[in-house]
Amino acid sequence: MARSDVDVKKLLAQMTLEEKVGQLVQLNAMFLGESSAEITGPLEKLGIPQSYMSKLGSTLNFHGAQEMMDIQRKHLEEDRNHIPLMFMMDVIHGFRTIFPIPLGLGASFDPETVKECSRMAAREASAGGVQVTFTPMVDYVRDARWGRVMESCGEDPYLNSVMGAAQVEAFQGDDLADHDNIAACVKHFAAYGGAEAGRDYNTVEISERLLREYYLPAYKACIDAGVKMLMPSFNSLNGVPSIANKWLMNKVLKDEWGFDGVIISDYNAIGELKKHGITDDMRLGAKMAFDCGCDIEMMSSSYYKHLADLVNDGEISEQKLDEAVLRVLELKKELGLFEDPYHGASPEKENSVCLTPEHRDIARRAAEASAVLLKNDGILPLSEDIKRIALVGPFAATNEIKGSWSCNGENEDCVSVYEGIRSLLPNAEIIVAEGCSAKYDELSEEGIDAAVAAAKGADAVVLCLGEPQKYSGEGNSRADIGLPGIQMQLARKVIAANPNAVALTFSGRPLVLTELDKLVPAILHMWFPGTEGGSAAADLLFGRANPSGKVPMSFPKAVGQCPIYYNHPSTGRPKSKPDEIHQPYSSNYIGCGNLPLYPFGHGLSYSSFVYESLELDTDTMTKDSEITVSITVLNDSDRAGKEVVQLYMHDIWASAVRPIQSLIAFEKTELGAHERKTITFKVREPMLRFYDLDCNHISEPGEFTLSTGCADHLVLTKSFTLK
Ligand code: BGC
Repeated sequence: MARSDVDVKKLLAQMTLEEKVGQLVQLNAMFLGESSAEITGPLEKLGIPQSYMSKLGSTLNFHGAQEMMDIQRKHLEEDRNHIPLMFMMDVIHGFRTIFPIPLGLGASFDPETVKECSRMAAREASAGGVQVTFTPMVDYVRDARWGRVMESCGEDPYLNSVMGAAQVEAFQGDDLADHDNIAACVKHFAAYGGAEAGRDYNTVEISERLLREYYLPAYKACIDAGVKMLMPSFNSLNGVPSIANKWLMNKVLKDEWGFDGVIISDYNAIGELKKHGITDDMRLGAKMAFDCGCDIEMMSSSYYKHLADLVNDGEISEQKLDEAVLRVLELKKELGLFEDPYHGASPEKENSVCLTPEHRDIARRAAEASAVLLKNDGILPLSEDIKRIALVGPFAATNEIKGSWSCNGENEDCVSVYEGIRSLLPNAEIIVAEGCSAKYDELSEEGIDAAVAAAKGADAVVLCLGEPQKYSGEGNSRADIGLPGIQMQLARKVIAANPNAVALTFSGRPLVLTELDKLVPAILHMWFPGTEGGSAAADLLFGRANPSGKVPMSFPKAVGQCPIYYNHPSTGRPKSKPDEIHQPYSSNYIGCGNLPLYPFGHGLSYSSFVYESLELDTDTMTKDSEITVSITVLNDSDRAGKEVVQLYMHDIWASAVRPIQSLIAFEKTELGAHERKTITFKVREPMLRFYDLDCNHISEPGEFTLSTGCADHLVLTKSFTLK
């Protein structure tokens, strides 16, 4: 793809101050385009006149290629500099073809799956007119009450980093001007996932050590992978909202990490400095954000109103303003927009690229790779010879399984569980009985009797339970993270009627499934699997596909355990048996163990994997040497399957308290029936580092262990010494 030879510096030199500021203002696409003249209300509220629209540098949220082209064409006619707009959107887990929510992709433990999905999303989104996606979201999360955990890859900094970088690489490719690629924007910097009590937008107070150790690595990994843009988070971090947090934005992001991409505020985040009680003066707000490196203001008007004055009054230097505008223009140039302002998009292309059988196949495989078999007493997979099957529960036949942030995906495009099983078993008798609602405030018991009757005569029962897709995502935190409504009542009655009931669960977060786990012989967790969710569920239930996902975020036993995460620091009074109920004067709860119901890294398979050995090639290491760890796994079954081999490290003695385990490497590998494989990992000194009390990133000589298995169930361990 030929690159535009436009000289953006020359272009900048011919721009007025007002035009420069315009490049730094982003408004919703509903204010642009043909129908925009009617939409005066919200614009009036922002205090921006319609006549300003032709000065804008970028826009967000529009509906496909046609709208993008109409807006772009009109804009180019009106802008005397003919600088194309940049079109941005939240392409979080697919554009039209929706793949599993990012937490589900985290469960795949497979960066290749993540890349394949992201490349598909980039192709579709680009054809549909998107040039920048507000992805990846790599907020580190520990509290399942927070609705946005669904956008994250979970509670491990390393897993989050690997998956974040994979997304950046796949979305952006090697050349942004290539029409299969779009620019990525990492978010939300920083520690949005640390929202107190899991309540969205809530305050975040975290020590610098903790921040650097758990929360920051994934953003850094995305920057190292070349991400073009970054979005600061809504929350206040240690007293100051990120958008105005000099320590975070200037010291860490710019000085230490050298980030030189475009920074965009989150939606009205500068405007919210008022609500935060930082300042009522939006001129000051604009200056604070600009001084913290924010190039583009999204959906508030402080830059429009005050940036030019701040420059004229010498409070912001014109050079700094020019640098910000240049960053925006450079990105447009890299995207090839000066040459092709539509970046290859068209309604025809959008139609032919989106939702193709190939893309559906990618979504289906990703949904299969993301599902986690939480429990199985041997009842799964079900036999395809089953004559009569009862699908019970609110997720039995619904196509509302895309999950939040599904961009342009439609419920109507999603394959429901019923449809998935129907096409797999065309001759089986399938009885659907929803039984009850999944909503917390719909408590009608009317459907339960029919569900029980359906279960009674069935050869197999699949209880399709979960939380509605709108219960997670932005602004959707929950204080109780069990199955909402009367679903457990339904489950109890159905299981009493037919104990051969397996559970198929859907959610945007880890749920508390403690009672369900006691009642049913098997639970297969689908997250929100996307467009091909029902097909994937059918394949998995009947053994056409073999589950291989692992828990990326602990499923607590009780909501009171939140925040719960495997890699927590040692305490001075650990329980000797962490899951025993109450041990006086140790760190624990009355009436509930310490461990989650399903820990990080847990996930069963229809194959049976035996960890035979973990060997180190040496038991000492220096700062310059490495240890080769060899882990041998046997597939002791007749069925091929995939296993995620996980390597955990523990630093036994250190000057600062260390996590009881930390994941430092993993590999998902396929093993044929009865196949034995040895997976090797290299361990080097930087993998052993931590932040000391002065926040230096160091390692300390001493004894370490390396283990494999999953977080709360390590099966093999060896130790070594760092000299
Ligand atoms: C969200 C961001 C998103 C932005 C634009 C905000 O409300 O916090 O994650 O990118 O809206 O849609």
